[in-house]
Amino acid sequence: MPSGRDLIFRQGYFGEPDAFEALAVLLQDIFSIDIRPMQWLGGVDPTCMPFGYFDAQGRCVANFSVFSMPLAVNGRTMRVAAYQSGAVSPAYRGRGLYRDLMQRAFTHARQTGHEADILLTDKPALYVPYGLRSVRMFGFRGAMPQSSADGPACQALSLDRPADLHRVSAMLDIRQPVSGRFAVTGMKALFLLNAWWQRDEITLSYLSRQKAIVAWRQEAEKLIVFDVVSAEIPPLGEICAALGAACSCVETRFSPDRLQWAEAEAVADPHVYLMASASLAEQLEQSPVGFTPLAEF
Ligand SMILES: CC(C)(COP(=O)(O)OP(=O)(O)OC[C@H]1O[C@@H](n2cnc3c(N)ncnc32)[C@H](O)[C@@H]1OP(=O)(O)O)[C@@H](O)C(=O)NCCC(=O)NCCS
Repeated sequence: MPSGRDLIFRQGYFGEPDAFEALAVLLQDIFSIDIRPMQWLGGVDPTCMPFGYFDAQGRCVANFSVFSMPLAVNGRTMRVAAYQSGAVSPAYRGRGLYRDLMQRAFTHARQTGHEADILLTDKPALYVPYGLRSVRMFGFRGAMPQSSADGPACQALSLDRPADLHRVSAMLDIRQPVSGRFAVTGMKALFLLNAWWQRDEITLSYLSRQKAIVAWRQEAEKLIVFDVVSAEIPPLGEICAALGAACSCVETRFSPDRLQWAEAEAVADPHVYLMASASLAEQLEQSPVGFTPLAEF
């Protein structure tokens, strides 16, 4: 039986190719995700601090990472610690490795001045002892707004094409948070990796008149808008007209406070299990908020 005593504790190993690859293998095994594309998409997040255990062969058998996630919350920017990539190899589970890594990561977040914590999980019980609680997430649904804007003017983008990747990347640098009520700000690398992973389900289009990138999908009569990247978020009516979407209904996965779309009603979003520390959770519970899959972590 493997024993935790034979393991080597390491932290901050994103810059070490062998350790990064070992972490990629662990996450591929446990979650069937490949983090390697982040190296050529947006680069590795320099704020990310992985904590982990490695065996004598250099295999990563446990990991828990923390990184800085600036959030727009009620019009204010908060510097929040976000946690991801929590996994322990099956053979090493049940011996306190994860508890040890969680304690290190939460301590690191406090020592580096983060004012709150946030994470996404389907196992909330793991994090309740660390002061986090679940916050319900919502989508926003309503009739497609009418617009007097001109007809369609959009171009599909592919992150496979260097020019498109450059355009998306440059616009992420200057984006306004998609919502002032609750949105992730910046986090270019995270957006690019999510857009890459979800490229078969989510279309990225560049709207030339609005100088905006919209992440969207059409499902029968419904247009789902996942995110908008622009220096100034355009009204939803203009977005729909520019996309040429012939739908009766629109749904956004983020709070629509910047979309000039008064008819939207909140509907529970069963896809996102978000937890936040008490001070942040209280602010998010003041009225319904959503969380775009382009910011998932
Ligand atoms: C969840 C996981 C990380 C736990 O790793 P582990 O090393 O076995 O956990 P530990 O032995 O350190 O246990 C830490 C605590 O979590 C609890 N715990 C362990 N697995 C749990 C689970 N599935 N659900 C809820 N609590 C769990 C333990 O009881 C222990 O509680 P305690 O501190 O009060 O004693 C591991 O099972 C795993 O990798 N699972 C698959 C990936 C996953 O779900 N990751 C979490 C993503 S958010």
